[in-house]
Amino acid sequence: MGNLRAILIAVFASAIALQICSVRATFSDSTSFYWGAERGQYTGPDSVDLKLTKEGGTGLKSNITYMYGSITMGIKLPCGDSAGTVTTFYLSSRGDAHDEIDFEFLGNASGQPYTIHTNIFTQGFGQREQQFKPWFNPCDDYHYYTIFWNVFEVVWMVDGVPIRVFKNHHDPAINFPDAQPMETYSSFWNADDWATQGGRVKTNWKLAPFTASLQTYNVDACLCVLNDPECAKRCSSSGNWWTQESYTTLSQTQIDEMNTIRYNNMFYNYCTDYTKAELPKECSMESY
Ligand SMILES: *[C@@H]1O[C@H](CO)[C@@H](O)[C@H](O)[C@H]1NC(C)=O
Ligand SMILES: *[C@@H]1O[C@H](CO)[C@@H](O)[C@H](O)[C@H]1NC(C)=O
Repeated sequence: MGNLRAILIAVFASAIALQICSVRATFSDSTSFYWGAERGQYTGPDSVDLKLTKEGGTGLKSNITYMYGSITMGIKLPCGDSAGTVTTFYLSSRGDAHDEIDFEFLGNASGQPYTIHTNIFTQGFGQREQQFKPWFNPCDDYHYYTIFWNVFEVVWMVDGVPIRVFKNHHDPAINFPDAQPMETYSSFWNADDWATQGGRVKTNWKLAPFTASLQTYNVDACLCVLNDPECAKRCSSSGNWWTQESYTTLSQTQIDEMNTIRYNNMFYNYCTDYTKAELPKECSMESY
């Protein structure tokens, strides 16, 4: 997957023209390790290795806060027996009633597929998981994971193809992340109490250290200083490419591509989990 540029240009065509408050970033100029720094390493200006050993994992976060736009990172997951490990890429705001948009990659035994786990928290409430089996090998090379976020929708993409949308219904019963700026996080840790086949398969520490590699942190998003009351307004104003008409919904081609993946590869959807007492309101509404 060398063609990140081609993917981004195809998906975000008007990105070039309009950017009143957009910021760009690389791993080394806008992230730092907030946890387990001794197991994290910048391997180049825009590449990072995250290691996991018995002593622990590691995580980095952006020192820039964003609101709306597109944030992409290339991730190469560990090959072979990665059971028990979890690699993450997510955006999160701070505080109790936080918003969070997640990609998590749950490892598996050799020869078994990873799980691409997605979720979204709004005002501190999550439980909106959707899980996919990858249709590619996420450890053979870097694959590019994008979180696109504007006032209309949140879109999760893999190599430029949407796999999930969380729409803003402008309904007070369904919160949408439209008030709090977020920071980017990526981490690699041991979760063998739950991550793989419900916690039955444990991390094989004989194989440690495990390595997850990141490259090309591609941000085209609105720079937002924490606690800036004008931020939401500025970042959602019409001078930004992500607020243009063409980004209010996916194109028909994108919807078709997404539906093919959802039909073939999605194996858990909170909206069809009838073991729950009550499905959230958005599950009965048009989702994209
Ligand atoms: C963010 O962190 C990097 C690397 O630690 C540093 O060089 C840069 O000055 C920081 N930027 C801001 C805006 O704090
Ligand atoms: C691991 O592989 C098994 C068997 O194919 C599958 O049931 C499971 O969903 C996979 N993923 C995880 C994270 O357990």
